[in-house]
Amino acid sequence: MKTINVNLRQDSYPVYLGNGILDQFAQILAKHTSARQIVVISVKEIFERYGEALLSGFENNEQVQVLLIPDGEKAKSLQQVEALYTRLLEKKFERGMVIAALGGGVVGDLSGFVAATYLRGVDFVQVPTTLLAQVDSSIGGKTGVNHPLGKNLIGAFKQPMFVLADTETLQSLPDAEMRCGLGEVIKYGFILNRAFFEYLKENTGKALQKDPETLLHLVETSAREKAKIVEQDEKENNLRMILNFGHTFGHALEAEFNYEGLKHGEAVILGMQCALLYAREAGRMKTEEFERGMEVLRQIPVPLQKNALNPDALLEHMTRDKKVHDKNIRLIIVEEIGTYKIDQTAGEEQIKTVWQKFIEMN
Ligand SMILES: NC(=O)c1ccc[n+]([C@@H]2O[C@H](COP(=O)([O-])OP(=O)(O)OC[C@H]3O[C@@H](n4cnc5c(N)ncnc54)[C@H](O)[C@@H]3O)[C@@H](O)[C@H]2O)c1
Ligand SMILES: [Zn+2]
Repeated sequence: MKTINVNLRQDSYPVYLGNGILDQFAQILAKHTSARQIVVISVKEIFERYGEALLSGFENNEQVQVLLIPDGEKAKSLQQVEALYTRLLEKKFERGMVIAALGGGVVGDLSGFVAATYLRGVDFVQVPTTLLAQVDSSIGGKTGVNHPLGKNLIGAFKQPMFVLADTETLQSLPDAEMRCGLGEVIKYGFILNRAFFEYLKENTGKALQKDPETLLHLVETSAREKAKIVEQDEKENNLRMILNFGHTFGHALEAEFNYEGLKHGEAVILGMQCALLYAREAGRMKTEEFERGMEVLRQIPVPLQKNALNPDALLEHMTRDKKVHDKNIRLIIVEEIGTYKIDQTAGEEQIKTVWQKFIEMN
């Protein structure tokens, strides 16, 4: 088992990482807390698959309660938060309790928000089971739910006591979820770590086939990169925005399909293609470097009907995006792989050209 430390002064915590480490949960928890009341929040299918291993180390199972929530993004709602408060209050859970989230980013975001607010805050643990959650959402303490007027608008910062990421759980992950997580993984290579990018160039195929060694390396490297960013910018004042590489273009695609046609990570993969196109068109990325970038992105198949897309409509989504500052669109761009730049020079015509080229490109 490996340990990655997220250093945030009094809020520091370890990310434990390994293949087949779920059954060490009770032992690890005991190292962190003497709490007697533990609540696991999960989704039925995930708990049926992994609950037994997770709880195998508890001598007295009575101290553990399991609360199941519906699957899917819709569960990230204030109604679901209230329903969880009610169940916790009815069962008389007190401040000394621990909430553990077993599942993907949805379970983590929702449970974390409940942990941040129930009785003004109780201890929290993340046990992420999707690639996206292991490399991104479980690290950094951003928790929250959606509002009818927008995604992730209600939330709190709540750092966990620890994260336990068992890459063996990824073996049951559907292919589309795997692609989504890989989008975020490749993002770290593009903006922060060229050696990792080169590794991905050779090993993305193995990752898609869920080779255990490859997955472990991907999760470890990505988690380390995410931890470094979070350490430098705990409350998202500035640096964390670089993690939006590919996201500004990606969000436009998600919005264009009403958040139904494309999954977030898939949209990010396409959004990174657009970001590369932008840098090349602006003469800021060499063609050779552009091709290298595209080669890796193209290894992840994303089904998309491009012929229905319209550059004007896509631009419109971007100018409504929250990352707009003083009319100019703020973009995270890559000129040389492994480094990033924050760019605020993109005019509307340039962006439209990018969308046009993207639509024409195979
Ligand atoms: N807090 C953050 O910093 C942060 C960062 C990025 C994304 N997010 C949020 O994360 C959410 C997306 O997370 P996600 O991609 O993990 O989606 P998700 O939690 O909806 O999980 C995707 C699907 O995979 C299933 N699943 C989970 N683990 C599985 C496993 N091991 N085997 C088989 N199926 C499994 C889930 O039940 C679900 O159906 C979004 O709500 C997004 O806003 C948060
Ligand atoms: Zn993302």
